[in-house]
Amino acid sequence: WKTLDDMDMAGKVVLVRVDINVPVENGRVTDATRIEKIVPTVRDIMGKGGKPVLLAHFGRPKGQVVPEMSLAPLAPELEKALGCPVKFAEDCIGGPAKKAVAALTAGEVLLLENTRFHAGEEKNDPELAAGMAALGQIYVNDAFSAAHRAHASTEGLAHRLPAAAGRLMEAELKALEAALGDPVRPVVAVVGGAKVSTKLDLLGNLVGKVDHLVIGGGMANTFLVARGIEVGTSLAERDMAETAREIEEKAKAAGCTIHLPVDVVVAREFRANAANETVPAEKCPADAMILDAGPESVAAIAQVFEASKTLIWNGPLGAFEIAPFDAATNAAAQKAAELTRAGTLTSVAGGGDTVAALNKAGAAEAFSYISTAGGAFLEWMEGKELPGVKALMD
Ligand code: 3PG
Repeated sequence: WKTLDDMDMAGKVVLVRVDINVPVENGRVTDATRIEKIVPTVRDIMGKGGKPVLLAHFGRPKGQVVPEMSLAPLAPELEKALGCPVKFAEDCIGGPAKKAVAALTAGEVLLLENTRFHAGEEKNDPELAAGMAALGQIYVNDAFSAAHRAHASTEGLAHRLPAAAGRLMEAELKALEAALGDPVRPVVAVVGGAKVSTKLDLLGNLVGKVDHLVIGGGMANTFLVARGIEVGTSLAERDMAETAREIEEKAKAAGCTIHLPVDVVVAREFRANAANETVPAEKCPADAMILDAGPESVAAIAQVFEASKTLIWNGPLGAFEIAPFDAATNAAAQKAAELTRAGTLTSVAGGGDTVAALNKAGAAEAFSYISTAGGAFLEWMEGKELPGVKALMD
């Protein structure tokens, strides 16, 4: 794939697909990370004399014009982050868009309305892609986190104009390649979260690629059940036990060691500060549920991290949203941060919950790379080809 360095942008209108699908509560952006992350790309384009025109989706309006999902309120947020005027056009194709592009002057950025207000976006409709392509001369995709969608603005458009990856897309692809594509070994993956069933493909792909797989959260319970261990009233997918056994078999054949909790923190209620005790993993009382991994498990995980050179992390190890059941996630995250700071570990993490958990642990900043992607990060960990990335390579 090409980068901004390969493109002659002077005087040209550059259509930049960004992901500014940020969380908003009561009209306020609660986490502006995705907005901040596109700044280098937009500034670079302006520095090369190009005129950036931003294409983005927001929410899931399903092809309808849903006023609450307009991108207009994000223009001031972009102005703040970019430090330049950001104009807005009420459609991403047609008359309003063309007029706004024509009026754009050097030093300004144009934001176009939510691409998903058109049904053709999610259908990857060639007509919509053609309408977008008519607005500019160059296409830049900086939306790794939307690259798992084969949509008109993420995939179709790439085939219609000279296309390049933006700086954020470049950074994501390089970091992920360093973690799973061609990593320095040994590699350890941490996979947590509630359910095995949602991460089957991911686990299946990882056991063939990493040296150690640390399983945490609710899905660890399913693996314990598969090993014949009783887990009381814990969240566990008993119907997935056979699948868990198959993953264990596959791991063994591939030389990947699976690490399950050896001790667990159990409680009778799922709430913050519920009375709890720490017991060996095989001694969960029948009327209790596992809500976190215990200190011995954390010590074992720390040892694996110490012996590893690369870490890839998705999903918390316990019920991290309610204290004290965030202890294992926090301690393991802090260990990873410490080793990364010391320069012995390259650490990469992604996925909505994961980033929230690492932030809560105060560990995110020390990580080598934190992906802005949720679903796209998971699909990439599953070994799937992302249409938005593939289109840049074609
Ligand atoms: C995300 O928030 O993960 C991306 O913006 C993709 O959004 P989507 O899941 O609605 O396609």
